[in-house]
Amino acid sequence: MFNIENFDIKLDTKFIGRNFIYTESIDSTNTYLMQNFNNLPHGTVVFSEFQEAGKGRLKRTWFSEKGLNLTFSILLKENLSSNINLINLAASLAVSSSIENLYQIKTELKWHNDVLINKKKVSGILLNSTSKGSELEKIIIGIGINVNQTKFPTDYKIRPTSIKYEHRKEAKRERLLSEALNVFEKLLITVKKNPKEILEDWREKCKMIGEHITIEIGDDKKYGIFYDIDANGYMILKVGENLEKITSGDITIR
Ligand code: BTN
Repeated sequence: MFNIENFDIKLDTKFIGRNFIYTESIDSTNTYLMQNFNNLPHGTVVFSEFQEAGKGRLKRTWFSEKGLNLTFSILLKENLSSNINLINLAASLAVSSSIENLYQIKTELKWHNDVLINKKKVSGILLNSTSKGSELEKIIIGIGINVNQTKFPTDYKIRPTSIKYEHRKEAKRERLLSEALNVFEKLLITVKKNPKEILEDWREKCKMIGEHITIEIGDDKKYGIFYDIDANGYMILKVGENLEKITSGDITIR
């Protein structure tokens, strides 16, 4: 069972996770924050041992075995930078850095926010946001990290893995969660003050830039070279001599 005291003792943030909601079971931590954000402070983190209807990107489901992994969401409602994509990239950088800091395992990033170890997916991130008029009202960053699960169903688009599977040792979920939140809070400041640094760090960890890729956007497929990401975190795809901006989709290397 997740030990909140052990988590709290290593939490070194000003606002993220200072209001921490722990549940044994929930439909989805993202849905919970979408429904209850009005009564919750900026930086609230909701963590659940199990999600009955965990959500993935592109209307997929996110399955995580009870009590073994990290499934949590962060609520941001103040000082919202208009650049939500950079917050998305910052979240994947935070997960990747916290895994590297604690376990000395090399991670890679896959556009736009999957974290991979040995080309297998260890973490996925789902952002939900709402606006009031032209202003962002809230951003919910839902993060799933496979920590101690070692058996996975086989019907995944990218093969899943976990920290325990790669590191051959049980990992302490409390320590990993506090580290990920500590790093994420720092990166949120960088998103505001020095967004270029986020882009540079992200580029460095993405080994797919320069590769021939296929990108699936709904039922559509595009082929090209993953040329770069732009200042907003969108992918620039080189198709023949043309550069195209891609805002979402699933990539595979050809
Ligand atoms: C993806 O890679 O498709 C994104 C997966 C995001 C999963 C997390 S787990 C916590 C939060 N609550 C959800 O229902 N989804 C996100």
